[in-house]
Amino acid sequence: MKNHYYVTTPIYYVNDKPHIGSAYTTIAADALARAHRLRGVPTFFLTGTDENSQKNLEAAEKAGATDLQTYLDFMAEIWKNTWRELGISYDDFIRTTEERHHKGVERFWRAVEKSGDIYKADYERDYCVGCEEFKTPSELMDGKCPLHPNRPLQKVKEENYFFRASAYKENLLQLFRDKPEFIQPVSRYNEIKSYVERAYEDFSISREAKKLACGIAVPGDESQRIYVWFDALINYMTAVGYGTDDELFKKWWPATLHLVGKDIIKFHCALWPAMIMSAAKSDALLQAADGSPLLPERVFAHGFFTIEGYKISKSLGNAVDPLELAKTFPFDAVRYFLLREIPFGEDGDFSLARLEDRYSSDLGNRLGNLVNRVIAMSAKYFDGKVPNVDAASASQAFADTEWTGASGLAALWQIIEDKIQAARLDHMLEAIWSAQGASLTTANKLVEQTQPFKLIKQDPEKTAAVLYALLEACRQFAWMVEPVMPHVAEGILIQLGQDAASERSKGLEVLKAWGGLKPGTELRPGTVLFPPLEKV
Ligand code: MSP
Repeated sequence: MKNHYYVTTPIYYVNDKPHIGSAYTTIAADALARAHRLRGVPTFFLTGTDENSQKNLEAAEKAGATDLQTYLDFMAEIWKNTWRELGISYDDFIRTTEERHHKGVERFWRAVEKSGDIYKADYERDYCVGCEEFKTPSELMDGKCPLHPNRPLQKVKEENYFFRASAYKENLLQLFRDKPEFIQPVSRYNEIKSYVERAYEDFSISREAKKLACGIAVPGDESQRIYVWFDALINYMTAVGYGTDDELFKKWWPATLHLVGKDIIKFHCALWPAMIMSAAKSDALLQAADGSPLLPERVFAHGFFTIEGYKISKSLGNAVDPLELAKTFPFDAVRYFLLREIPFGEDGDFSLARLEDRYSSDLGNRLGNLVNRVIAMSAKYFDGKVPNVDAASASQAFADTEWTGASGLAALWQIIEDKIQAARLDHMLEAIWSAQGASLTTANKLVEQTQPFKLIKQDPEKTAAVLYALLEACRQFAWMVEPVMPHVAEGILIQLGQDAASERSKGLEVLKAWGGLKPGTELRPGTVLFPPLEKV
């Protein structure tokens, strides 16, 4: 395994602006990318837009756009801008109408062709533009797409190019046996394995150009256009130089993690690896040293969420705009909410009442108040500075409470490392807020049990030890939550008199070590991390 972290989101259709569902995938990828950067792992985070799609074409026509490219340019800016405003730290944004993408797709197609896996055949089937997918009769309900019952299916009867996917059925099943972690969570693994066992067949990978006013031309045959999913998946390679920059490609490929919604798992876990297996036979750039195909390491499918119990849908008009939400809630709080509330990999619900509740309880009461109280008391009693105590003994001073001090925090860091590796940020956050060990909850209890505001009158030395321990814990909590709430983390660190950028450069091993907060450091209290909400 390479010592790098290359994480991707799906590339989004631009038939609409981003909603909270697309933001969810992007935020999860962003948090994982930030977590790896903090660990000093070379990280590449890719997102982008899927532009060669009939859905976009329809939307452009509906919007009365003068031409498709103008519409795509306009929409791609809206997506980029939303991510920028939400602080998404992507390293590259690929658009599948870019030349670099077309070049890579051409190279890939030629490789698959050379491997003997592209052939022409007559085809007759129903196509659902909503899914951008051909449907077998068994996938229809009453002759309609179950996901888009209001959209008439297109009857396609033409000669198309096919990808000989069936030739890779055994290789795929072998991959699933050898590397069960390739598809996560396990429910999705089972779904894909049984799909490949039961229903895996060759894919039609082109459409007649005269019937389709968008898409990349089939190399060597202008009369056909490449099927949007076949070109879209290749974005994960073209963005890192496939077809344009071999060195860049060698640096980042294979991808470490494709994050996707459960709706598109079939394409990522059954079609994409077979495409790579085929292309790799004829393109050495896609082969590992032993000649095996360079496949992505893992695909993780998260669930779908509803809004206040309802499916997100255009007709209901209930799609929550993340930029609107950011006007009411600090966006870090929304990131926290989405990643904490919905078990990663399962379906969930987005509700404003739950968001408000977590905002005031988890964030305001437990994180914000702790930081606020501890810094304010320390500044008040110790001349605006971190109290002057021996860090090691401050850690051991509270054996009679639930707070487990430095060793408890070290244990919590270990849990965090494991959860990040497993992409379970929900579990990571749960652990930081849990009721055991050294956590935000037990740190708050320590304040209540030791009552520094009273203790200061009886025992200033013990008060200094308590407050040092709590300040140091706040410093560590800031780094623990940083990938999910980067602004909040910075807000805590500034108040603790830390220069976040220079601290970060010391590396996580140093940041994790107890005693990083130097006695005598000037405190800068006063930032309100979670201001009270004006009623939404
Ligand atoms: N263009 C394809 C992906 C190609 S990847 C090579 C596509 N695009 S999409 O715009 O429809 O975005 C799909 C992704 O948005 C889903 O896979 C999922 O990640 C996210 N979500 C869209 N609606 C969602 C919810 N209601 N809930 C959670 N995620 C949602 O499919």
